Amino acid sequence: MSSIKALESTISRLGHQVGPGEKVMFDQLEIAIGYYNRSPEALIQILHRAQELFGYLRPDVVDFVAQTLTLPVSQVYGVISFYSFFSTIPRGKYTIMACMGTACYVRGAEPVVQAFEKELGIQRGQTTTDGLFSLKCVRCLGACGMAPVVMIGEDVHSKLKPAGVKKIVRQYT
Ligand code: FES
Repeated sequence: MSSIKALESTISRLGHQVGPGEKVMFDQLEIAIGYYNRSPEALIQILHRAQELFGYLRPDVVDFVAQTLTLPVSQVYGVISFYSFFSTIPRGKYTIMACMGTACYVRGAEPVVQAFEKELGIQRGQTTTDGLFSLKCVRCLGACGMAPVVMIGEDVHSKLKPAGVKKIVRQYT
């Protein structure tokens, strides 16, 4: 399906209008989809671009991608839910990715995550009301020797203890 038809179809199916600013973002997404020759094999790269443009993978954006690539929406959501770097909810400026893989878990990841929850006043999977932080638990981050590990943006915080959480949060405020 052409991107224009996909966008029209998405708008009519989800029942809301797309503003001029959003149209520009859909245009950018369309360029990315064209760059990958509308290949369903490039779904992950296209979803990355979509998340970069819109901040998270909203239902209308997922619908647009699925229709443009002629894929079932359920298949696209299957890929989104498989990879922890995709999000279907708005994220804060900083996403705290707390590893809950085996090595991190046995070395105390759970109390560290609880300390983040307490410090930020949110539960895992939520975003602070000021939009600054999102807290997400993920699988192995590939740094098991430094467990427990948390990533914030490009920064890796290793061998964490609950007592060190407040200091880390302050670095980003
Ligand atoms: S289990 Fe946490 S980095 Fe591997």
